[in-house]
Amino acid sequence: MKRVHHRYKNTIKGLLLATTSALVACSSGSSSSKPATQSGVSPQTMADALHAVMESDRTVYTKKVVNRLANEQNIIKASEHWEDDKALPLPAQMFRMGAEMVTEKNVGFTYGLLSKWPVNKQHAPKTDVEIRGLDFIDSNGGTTPFYGEEELGNQKYFTAIYADVGVATACVKCHNEHKDSPRTDFKIGDVMGGIVIRIPLNS
Ligand code: HEC
Repeated sequence: MKRVHHRYKNTIKGLLLATTSALVACSSGSSSSKPATQSGVSPQTMADALHAVMESDRTVYTKKVVNRLANEQNIIKASEHWEDDKALPLPAQMFRMGAEMVTEKNVGFTYGLLSKWPVNKQHAPKTDVEIRGLDFIDSNGGTTPFYGEEELGNQKYFTAIYADVGVATACVKCHNEHKDSPRTDFKIGDVMGGIVIRIPLNS
């Protein structure tokens, strides 16, 4: 675990340095800009940044690939059995394949997709924080993320849960029509689930 944390710290340091130089480069015209201090990144800032990347990639894939080619132009389908069907992987499958690859890299955090109305029963919330977090983002319509801490297997985690919103027709149509979906009345803009990001904390 020690080694993981060490590597994780270096990753954050690198991220911070990169961000700092980008900020300095952008604001070079302003005489009032102070040099940024290197003070470290909080787990929440880290989670927010990771989430911004995940959500953007997920939205781009859904809108520019799946929704355009499968729903608007009828050129290729998206299918759970995408290899056999020679189809596009579902957005959730793309997301999970990325998450699995990240887990293998041991960079110190993990993430996944859960829902109170899961097509795949394995994606139901399990820990207390997951259950409270999904209720929270659902009750505020996805406007505010949920942040909590939990201990799992002797390791403390900072856990952030962000709304996963039905951003395209493809999202709501596929879930509403799926035989295993416990909910069939999703509309565009609805909170359909949550992205859970876990960052280990030094105790
Ligand atoms: C073509 C069908 C299809 C599309 C399009 C689709 N999904 Fe899903 N989604 C599924 C299936 C099937 C699963 C379960 C996959 C698995 O077994 O891992 C799933 C999984 C999920 C999960 C995890 C919980 C669960 O239901 O298992 C969430 C949350 C989710 N999708 C939200 C969305 C959102 C938001 C979009 C649009 C950005 C979207 N989905 C697009 C079919 C689809």
